[in-house]
Amino acid sequence: MVAPRQSTPRSILITGASNGIGAALAKRYAAMGITLHLGGRDPARLAAVAAVCREQGADVVTCQQDVTDRAAMADWIAQADATRPLDLVIANAGTAGGPLGEPAAVPTARRIFAVNVDGVLNTIEPALPPMLARGRGQIALMASLAAFRGLPTGPAYCASKAALRSYGEGLRPRLAERNIGLSVICPGFVRTAMTAGNRFPMPLTLTPDQAARIIQAGLAKGRSRIAFPWPLYLLIRLAAALPPAWIDGRLARLPRKE
Ligand SMILES: NC(=O)c1ccc[n+]([C@@H]2O[C@H](COP(=O)([O-])OP(=O)(O)OC[C@H]3O[C@@H](n4cnc5c(N)ncnc54)[C@H](OP(=O)(O)O)[C@@H]3O)[C@@H](O)[C@H]2O)c1
Repeated sequence: MVAPRQSTPRSILITGASNGIGAALAKRYAAMGITLHLGGRDPARLAAVAAVCREQGADVVTCQQDVTDRAAMADWIAQADATRPLDLVIANAGTAGGPLGEPAAVPTARRIFAVNVDGVLNTIEPALPPMLARGRGQIALMASLAAFRGLPTGPAYCASKAALRSYGEGLRPRLAERNIGLSVICPGFVRTAMTAGNRFPMPLTLTPDQAARIIQAGLAKGRSRIAFPWPLYLLIRLAAALPPAWIDGRLARLPRKE
């Protein structure tokens, strides 16, 4: 199936825009004539990103939000779409572990699923009906190369990203029939707060801006899957193809994400 042609997005909503890849994407899209709706939990970091985007000429509306708050997300996205119909929604916010200050009793795996899976559903479910009514729009789901194989470094993280990848792949042809594009983004290692604490080697690490440039180019082409860097992509596809009995023991030697 041919992906719907993507025109330059003018009204863009990004979750997790206060830091890392989301902030880099916001800055790359920021320009005269562009409206950016930027979400995140940390108001100071969100304001700093918004200020840079405004300097570049974009109209910016920020919203301090937690993607796990379904009702608040629906309100925010409805308001954003009413301000200027959304062309592109990037469901980027994600976590790899329990946030600092979280009570120890909150199981990390459930928190990861709540943010990475429910949070993405809370983002795209309110965005889709108006896009479908208009017969145009584009959705980007931030998965990961970790979506292709469960790894002992972060079992819940891998599973949450595998869910997004699979959900996006299933949804894509159905949305394409209605002229809505959907891309699943699968980055390798990117140097952000999320990876700062990793104690294991992170080959071919990119800066957030390098990752954002690749993502923006892939979205402009309406690519179904934006997976990079390609050597790591090949490696994880190979690991996924090998018999579990053979590869499990080798992967078990990798250091864990705490
Ligand atoms: N870094 C990598 O190597 C890598 C690789 C593959 C995929 N990814 C994915 O890329 C996305 C961005 O990650 P990153 O590396 O840029 O990490 P990051 O620098 O830690 O940024 C994460 C962003 O998500 C937001 N966020 C986290 N929990 C949230 C919540 N409950 N509600 C609303 N916003 C929330 C954060 O907002 P606040 O800071 O304001 O709370 C922040 O803006 C994630 O989905 C991640 O899984 C990252």
